[in-house]
This record gives sequence, structure tokens and C-alpha cells, in this order.
Amino acid sequence: MKYFPFLLALAALFSACDSKEDLKKKQYYVEGMELYKTHCANCHQNDGKGLVGLYPPLAGSDFMLKNKELVICAIRNGLSDTIVVNGKTYHQPMPPNSQLLALDIAEISTYIYKQWGNKEEITETKEVEKILEKCKKK
Ligand code: HEC
Repeated sequence: MKYFPFLLALAALFSACDSKEDLKKKQYYVEGMELYKTHCANCHQNDGKGLVGLYPPLAGSDFMLKNKELVICAIRNGLSDTIVVNGKTYHQPMPPNSQLLALDIAEISTYIYKQWGNKEEITETKEVEKILEKCKKK
């Protein structure tokens, strides 16, 4: 039993790490939801279902799952393309959000992918910075 205190300390250490990661996840999700309501819900709606024929859905979107980098770039730079989401064509422009920081975009991405893409992991701010660097407006 002489290892018991050591094991206890180890367990405490692990659960501390765990809850730190959990806290960050919760923070990204909650702040992402607020940012989504402010910057995105006008068009894509609070429930992520969009508006038929005008604004594509995020809930259940096959496009969103296949094009994460493009989605992150679109949040910053806007998108005016013809895209197909779940078999339907959309070609209205989505406006840019040049005021959003990489952190904001990471939080929005964490929220939308957890809420509607069944992806539990955080979109890290560093990951967003790298992606934004690639799609920087020239
Ligand atoms: C003014 C309305 C409007 C706002 C505000 C808006 N979008 Fe969009 N969004 C669109 C339109 C229109 C498209 C399709 C663009 C195209 O056809 O090129 C689109 C496309 C998308 C797509 C890819 C297609 C899909 O449904 O999977 C994602 C993801 C997305 N928007 C997320 C967001 C997020 C996140 C925000 C907030 C930061 C946001 N949008 C703000 C109108 C909007």
C-alpha cells in the first residue's frame, strides 16, 4: 500500500488535466454559440436549418463535413460561389466577417461542428490561424 498516496496524486493530476480540457471545450462551445447567434443566425437560423432556397442549412450539411477549411475561410472572407448542400444548389453570397479573430472563428467552428456535425473535438485557434494564412486575401 505504500504506493497509494502516489497513485492518489497521479489520479488527481489526471482528473485536473481532464477538467481543464473540458472547461476549454465548454468555453469554446458557449462562446461559439453566442457568436453564432450574433453573426450567423440571421441567415442560417438558430436551429441551423437555414432558409429554403436562400441560405443553406448547417444542420446535417454534407458540405460542411467535407469542407472544413473552406468553411473556416468563408467565415472570415465570405463566400460567393455556387455550392451544393445536401443535393440542393445555393448561389447567394455569404458576407465576410473581417472583424472576427482567429479565436472567435475557432469558437464558432467548435460550436457548429459539435452542434450539427457530431464532432466533439475543439477547433483549435492555432489550426484556424494556419488555415486563414492559406486563404488570406491578396
Ligand atoms: C447574410 C446571410 C449569411 C450570414 C450572416 C452567414 N451566412 Fe453562411 N452562407 C450564406 C449563404 C448564402 C451561403 C452559400 C454561399 C454560396 O453559395 O457561395 C452560406 C454558406 C455557408 C456554409 C457552407 C454551406 C453549408 O450550409 O454547409 C457554412 C458552413 C456557413 N455558411 C456558415 C456560416 C457561419 C458560421 C456564419 C457566421 C459566422 C455565417 N455562415 C453567416 C449566408 C449567410
